[in-house]
Amino acid sequence: MNKLLNTLLKKEKNSNPPIWVMRQAGRYLPEYRAIRSDVKNFLELCYTPKLASEVTLQPIRRFGFDAAIIFSDILVIPDALGVKVEFVKNEGPKLQKISNLEDLKTFKTDNIKSHLNPVFEALALTKSKLDKDVALIGFSGSPWTLACYMIEGGGSKNFESVRRSAIENEEFFSQLIEILTVSIIEYLSHQIKAGADVVKLFDSWAGVLPPEQLRKWVIAPTKKIVSEIKKLHPNIPVICFPRGVGVNYEEFAREVAPHGLAIDQTLERNWVKKNLQENLGQVVQGNLDNILLAFGSKKEIEKEVLNILESFSDQPFIFNLGHGILPETPIENVELVLDLVRKN
Ligand code: CP3
Repeated sequence: MNKLLNTLLKKEKNSNPPIWVMRQAGRYLPEYRAIRSDVKNFLELCYTPKLASEVTLQPIRRFGFDAAIIFSDILVIPDALGVKVEFVKNEGPKLQKISNLEDLKTFKTDNIKSHLNPVFEALALTKSKLDKDVALIGFSGSPWTLACYMIEGGGSKNFESVRRSAIENEEFFSQLIEILTVSIIEYLSHQIKAGADVVKLFDSWAGVLPPEQLRKWVIAPTKKIVSEIKKLHPNIPVICFPRGVGVNYEEFAREVAPHGLAIDQTLERNWVKKNLQENLGQVVQGNLDNILLAFGSKKEIEKEVLNILESFSDQPFIFNLGHGILPETPIENVELVLDLVRKN
């Protein structure tokens, strides 16, 4: 068994925690940019198993991380449901906006397996090439964050239209969340059958909700997904990332009870240690600031890495960033972090 799985299943308390980084396959790597420049659009890269598998393996070859995360995107689910998704250069994702019950009737809910088959093939291919010590992570967006992009039609500062829709048009919104919940369970389940050792749920915009709505649109559907995956695949750990929820991380951990909880860089580490690691026995993953990693001095980065190790390493713990690695990140900064985590 490998280090990441051992940690998530609490079979190992590591003085050298396993390490991988969010968005580890991406534009900060010249070998990624080379492959990316040869394909017309980003989704084509996600849906070509040979290429998706190759870029998944690039950061493993270069850095020897303890986990590979399959190269794809959270927005492949709306794409599979028939909601048009495009990635516009320098602008990010653009989606066909949805707003009412009529829109939901057009969703191709039977399409998850067939449309996303290239992702499952990429997982199987990657698994066949991966050393047994390296865990293969599959993933999905969470219902709330997918709904954010689908209603807003792309990114947004604080997702006001989505927040408004959840309040003003609750029947539509709850049906949308329900469709996404079912689709996500099916999608993750196929990823596991194709070879994923671990699955992760990204809820990048959980942090914009007040507590009552967080319970309704984030905690409740995520709990359903996690308990269903536990039932269907008892040996597969689930990591959740309700980014930006602050002190509500505690309620999330208690209610959802994921094997691993990814924490962002805003949390006070003593609070995490006491409330999540010690009181709840929660395995945590995180939380180096991605901006510091890209733009900080070597000295500042070293100080933070040592602080994270000192704060969390008494309990099973996974080293990662608090959010995805930025394209501007110098490769030598990643190497510095790896050296520090591996030798301390
Ligand atoms: O290495 C990995 O982590 C696996 C691949 C991965 C990507 N996106 C590749 C990608 C993963 C896990 C994601 C998740 C994802 N995608 C999230 C959740 C995590 C987070 O960052 O909050 C979200 C919100 C998205 C949606 C998304 N995809 C946005 C907003 C963008 C544009 C911003 C950007 O960085 O360009 C993408 C595009 C995207 N997804 C890229 C990559 C490598 C860049 C596109 C390119 O190479 O042209």
